[in-house]
Amino acid sequence: MLKRITDTSAGDAQPVQAAGRRLKTFKGTMSPITLTDLNECWQLDLRCFIDGEAYERETFRYLLSNTQTVARQIRSEDGDMTAFVIGVIEPDGTGHITTIGVAPETRRRGLARLLMHEIERSFAARGVRTVRLEVRVGNLAAQFLYEQLGYIIVQRMDRYYSNGDDGYLMVKSLDPCD
Ligand SMILES: CC(C)(COP(=O)(O)OP(=O)(O)OC[C@H]1O[C@@H](n2cnc3c(N)ncnc32)[C@H](O)[C@@H]1OP(=O)(O)O)[C@@H](O)C(=O)NCCC(=O)NCCS
Repeated sequence: MLKRITDTSAGDAQPVQAAGRRLKTFKGTMSPITLTDLNECWQLDLRCFIDGEAYERETFRYLLSNTQTVARQIRSEDGDMTAFVIGVIEPDGTGHITTIGVAPETRRRGLARLLMHEIERSFAARGVRTVRLEVRVGNLAAQFLYEQLGYIIVQRMDRYYSNGDDGYLMVKSLDPCD
């Protein structure tokens, strides 16, 4: 279970606290990711996505330089980046979550759920009504996370990933009437 203590506005680090089902707790802050965080974000991504699945450093630079990008990080009380999410508002107005990662030692504390709620809130504030993302067919942890948040598998994409893995396309409507 996790709650955001106050609203997050761009540029400010807001306190967050979290507790997973097994009483693992976390205290830290959430804030936007900027280009000054580039190296740390890339390094954390390398720890989260093993087997060559991680983004290139320049991909992060591109994403963090894009005005259509929404990017949030969670830092521990020691100041270390422990979790991040990046999404882009596509030309058709869809919010596209491109990557999310939580440091292995701080998983199952609700940090990914908090980041997903925050990016959805930020997308909605910018007029996004539908969010999409891709996930490996074998990545059950991420699929459980997304399903818990209301995402639905709408398509299986053969050999979507560079190593030949299949992917699922998942979507969620942010429209309360749907
Ligand atoms: C997937 C990932 C982001 C989840 O981060 P997390 O902070 O541990 O997730 P949370 O603690 O917020 O979990 C929220 C819910 O997701 C599901 N979940 C998360 N990890 C899970 C796991 N290992 N097994 C089963 N369910 C899991 C659960 O439903 C969980 O709720 P619960 O703890 O109340 O049961 C993290 O495991 C990660 O960084 N993985 C490597 C990178 C990756 O695969 N990113 C997604 C690419 S599409």
